[in-house]
Amino acid sequence: MADLFSPSVSTILSERDETPDTRTYQLRFRDSQEHERFVFRPGQFLELSVFGVGEAPFCLASSPTRRQFLEVTVRRTGQVTDALHALGPGDEIGVRGPCGNGFDLAAAEGHDLLFIAGGIGLPPLRGLIWNILDERDRFGRVTILYGARTPTDLVYKDELQLWQGRDDIELFVTVDQAEPGWEGNVGMVPILLEMAELRPASTLTYVCGPPIMIKFVIQDLLMRGFAEERVISTLERTMQCGVGKCNHCCIGHLYVCRDGPVFNYRQIREMVE
Ligand SMILES: Cc1cc2nc3c(=O)[nH]c(=O)nc-3n(C[C@H](O)[C@H](O)[C@H](O)COP(=O)(O)OP(=O)(O)OC[C@H]3O[C@@H](n4cnc5c(N)ncnc54)[C@H](O)[C@@H]3O)c2cc1C
Ligand code: FES
Repeated sequence: MADLFSPSVSTILSERDETPDTRTYQLRFRDSQEHERFVFRPGQFLELSVFGVGEAPFCLASSPTRRQFLEVTVRRTGQVTDALHALGPGDEIGVRGPCGNGFDLAAAEGHDLLFIAGGIGLPPLRGLIWNILDERDRFGRVTILYGARTPTDLVYKDELQLWQGRDDIELFVTVDQAEPGWEGNVGMVPILLEMAELRPASTLTYVCGPPIMIKFVIQDLLMRGFAEERVISTLERTMQCGVGKCNHCCIGHLYVCRDGPVFNYRQIREMVE
């Protein structure tokens, strides 16, 4: 049985290249009853192990409303991620989880929702976005702002097109640097805040991406009147156990793996102070 402490065996069903160094995997527990019983919230993460190599945390990029398989999107950065990229359909890996707190979907009900992501920051939000789109009537306006360094670095390109075509979402995409054939926006993510119709009083905002992007976006949001408690982000810290036992991810009295990784900006500011 998959739990926080003992890994269960999962099979890679398929893989899809997102960018030259980033790939999405569809996973299913080898034991199908175990798969059916596995419950999670968007924003939680899994500890994935490549047998004989090691273990690392990855956010669940799929929605609990789509239970056929779990999805994770993995960028190659070192030992475990290199080993994961060497695996393919039919190969087996270990899965521990779901770890962490995840997003509070009930708190989002009835609100306008603004998602702001940079680069590989979209995967943690993607599960939440699909969950909300699958239960669309429960939520207000949905606006997605997404940017990457180049068009090649945009993840989920097919889904971006799908979202662009829907009339119940507003999607704005930008890249830092254009490539031949790109006809969209050019500039960093904060330029998209100028294009979207923002309603700070009724909106919950979810921000994920590289720390420098998060810093500038949150500064901008606060200047526009968004309250700190209504700006929500996920923290990435180096982790080992993922369950609040080893102290690797502590900030003050909080464990990012157990009390997070989802925090609102007021909590993040108080932690850093
Ligand atoms: C809660 C959480 C969710 C995550 N979700 C995802 C995800 O969905 N997709 C994804 O691709 N990655 C995600 N990561 C980051 C991922 O866990 C690391 O890239 C992975 O642990 C690297 O392991 P490795 O053995 O391949 O690299 P290593 O050989 O351990 O390290 C290679 C390089 O990456 C750096 N590094 C290692 N871990 C981190 C980290 N956590 N943050 C920044 N730099 C790091 C090291 O300092 C080193 O320079 C997440 C991390 C956390 C904490
Ligand atoms: S990773 Fe061990 S306490 Fe958080």
